[in-house]
Amino acid sequence: MRILIIGQGYVGTTMGVVLARAGHEVTGLDIDPKKIDSLKKGNLYFYEPGLEEMLREQVKAKKLQFTTEARQAIVNNDILFITVGTPSLENGNADLTYIKNAAQMIGRFKNNEKIIVVKSTVPVGTTENVEQWVMEASKDASPVKVVMNPEFLREGSALQDALYPDRIVIGSHIGDALETVTRIYKNWTCPLLQTTPRAAEMIKYASNAFLATKISFINEIAKLCDKLGINVRDISKGIGLDKRIGPSFLDAGLGYGGSCFPKDVKELLWTANDKQAPLHILREVEQVNQQQPTYLLTKTRQHLKSFKGKKIAVLGLAFKPYTDDTRESVSMPVIHHLLEEQASVVVHDPIVALSEEWRNRGVHQSDDLYEVVKDSDAIIICTNWPQYEELDWAKIRNLVRHPAIFDGRNMLKPEKLNEWEFHYEGIGYP
Ligand code: UGA
Repeated sequence: MRILIIGQGYVGTTMGVVLARAGHEVTGLDIDPKKIDSLKKGNLYFYEPGLEEMLREQVKAKKLQFTTEARQAIVNNDILFITVGTPSLENGNADLTYIKNAAQMIGRFKNNEKIIVVKSTVPVGTTENVEQWVMEASKDASPVKVVMNPEFLREGSALQDALYPDRIVIGSHIGDALETVTRIYKNWTCPLLQTTPRAAEMIKYASNAFLATKISFINEIAKLCDKLGINVRDISKGIGLDKRIGPSFLDAGLGYGGSCFPKDVKELLWTANDKQAPLHILREVEQVNQQQPTYLLTKTRQHLKSFKGKKIAVLGLAFKPYTDDTRESVSMPVIHHLLEEQASVVVHDPIVALSEEWRNRGVHQSDDLYEVVKDSDAIIICTNWPQYEELDWAKIRNLVRHPAIFDGRNMLKPEKLNEWEFHYEGIGYP
């Protein structure tokens, strides 16, 4: 099938590569010529393990092409995926500007019947609006058939998630459109759920909200474990072995960040309030998450007595490992609070470069981890990059001013650190 993907962010680009690999003829469209130039050459402009190689294969095989020419791309294709961003507005509601722009663009250029597949995460009811926005902008009377097909990709493992998803959800009231989109995924072997557009939209929000709930739940249990002298990792393991609970998303720590959970939790809360059906549990999930950085900083402050004049080494800027994304990363509030309390901050991240804003605020960065920890009064781990497990602690012990580690991802083995007389604290990890 010939497929156009509108929006070449990490979802659009990953889906394009994977759909091309499945045998479809795919075109990626974006308004940003820099992104398109880079993708045409087979170069990913963001970090996503394994994706660039497959992108190059598909570009070389001419199964995947890229363009900024919207009119031509829309005329040439009858199945149009929308994968543009839906960031949060100030009030928590999703900003649908990019979705509306994409729909109106399709309307302006469409010359025949089109199937539109909405893959962006959109509030319940948006799929219906997309049809209306397209038709209002269109001079051509032929219909559009809009289908909701949410994505469940994680940054850092987007390729694997797209190739081997747990499920595919397709929501539409229009039988033939539902069947066409189902055929796009005929090579996938996972369960495929056909449902209504509203249910498909809600499945996406409820999935992210539930995963965020698991994280905040284990984070609260972790804080209780701290008081009771229990290792929360044993609890995660013990409850995770129950198939009804499952082992994933039970890693206690500094909480969730990224471009999805914080935004989607906010949007669902907003919708629930708007419909006067408040989601009390989810409200607490958000609260607990916002408190996690403060919780670890309080432990650190208690140990150091004060941050004033202390040198703190912060390890990890990305919101999680294997991505260069720092949106809503917990490292940002951590660094902010440290600066507010007059600490000097040096950071490390294997792939993220510190923004100018932070550099202007006096934060330093070095690629040399040992340089970062040199003369530090405390090391705070914000991202569980695997290389932090492999550090030479004997060497670090000789470099630091004071041997203290605050592990915001519970990733190190305290037994190892005790050998070198480090003060070690995690979250729920006495
Ligand atoms: C999330 C969902 O997992 C995807 O299914 C979804 O498609 C995506 O949002 C989206 O809506 O686009 P992502 O934000 O890329 O994916 O990352 P996750 O792996 O879910 O991690 C989110 C945050 O939770 C990270 O900050 C991570 O460190 C944190 N986390 C995760 C924990 O604190 N504990 C855990 O046990 C797991």
